[in-house]
Amino acid sequence: MDTYYVNGEFVDDEAARVPAKDLTVLRGFGVFDFLITYNKRPFYLKEHVERLETSAKNIGLKLSHTNEQICKIVEETVKKNTHHDESNIRLVYTGGVSPDGVTPAGNGILMVMVTPKHMLPDFWYNDGASVITVDMERFIPTSKSTNYLSAVFALEQAHKTGAAEALYVDRNQRVLEGTTTNIFAIKGSSIITPPDGILPGITRSVVLKLIPESLKLEMRHIDFAELEKMDEIFITASNKEIVPVVKVNDMIVGPGKPGNVTKQIMTLFKSYTKDFGQGKIC
Ligand SMILES: Cc1ncc(COP(=O)(O)O)c(C=O)c1O
Repeated sequence: MDTYYVNGEFVDDEAARVPAKDLTVLRGFGVFDFLITYNKRPFYLKEHVERLETSAKNIGLKLSHTNEQICKIVEETVKKNTHHDESNIRLVYTGGVSPDGVTPAGNGILMVMVTPKHMLPDFWYNDGASVITVDMERFIPTSKSTNYLSAVFALEQAHKTGAAEALYVDRNQRVLEGTTTNIFAIKGSSIITPPDGILPGITRSVVLKLIPESLKLEMRHIDFAELEKMDEIFITASNKEIVPVVKVNDMIVGPGKPGNVTKQIMTLFKSYTKDFGQGKIC
């Protein structure tokens, strides 16, 4: 049994409830964030809580907790789940109950759900994963809102073909990001990642710090037509870390196996997270 924090109380996971009239239930109006622990400590907690705050601000949802209060609640909730080896942590801030069922009334509920960390398929990391593309755009992409309708829809299509992820291609034929991942592509000595129109991933921000000096960083959009010319592609996310992509739709990327640059960045990321756990978190 896991322990969650819901609206000021710690409760058993099965007893966690939000009102049926909450705007998150009725309208998909709310925000969330997701992080994991390394060495049992929440990785980049401060940054995830700051992103929750930005997500809320961008959709016009008022939070009644400070970032410091949210960080403390997360740390306490993690301490109540020491039976996990490592944990997934989901923060949810609901839209709250609204008198007319549509206008936010500033009474959202904070939930912190701590569950055991999932293992993902080894072959993604050793042999590379395939992805599909979908012609879809996220509404207010800088916000991790609870409206992930496009993600659920697109991932269902991806899973039908055995793909690990679906990448959004916008109306200008730009490849923006995945349903829950950011994208990096390597061409020659350049590493390219879209600058905007995306959720600013925390894993992406760590990867940006770890890019070897031998590579030139190009923060620019990637055209769909460019994908087939890329030497390597990888996707990043808190739960997935760095996943090499070897196939996009029917197209094989580079030599069809994880490339050397991707493998180098995966190694750097692994050692960075292995060392994580020293110092103050918030
Ligand atoms: C749309 C979207 N892009 C990118 C990411 C990756 O972000 P992070 O590295 O912070 O997990 C996520 C995470 O769920 C996401 O939902």
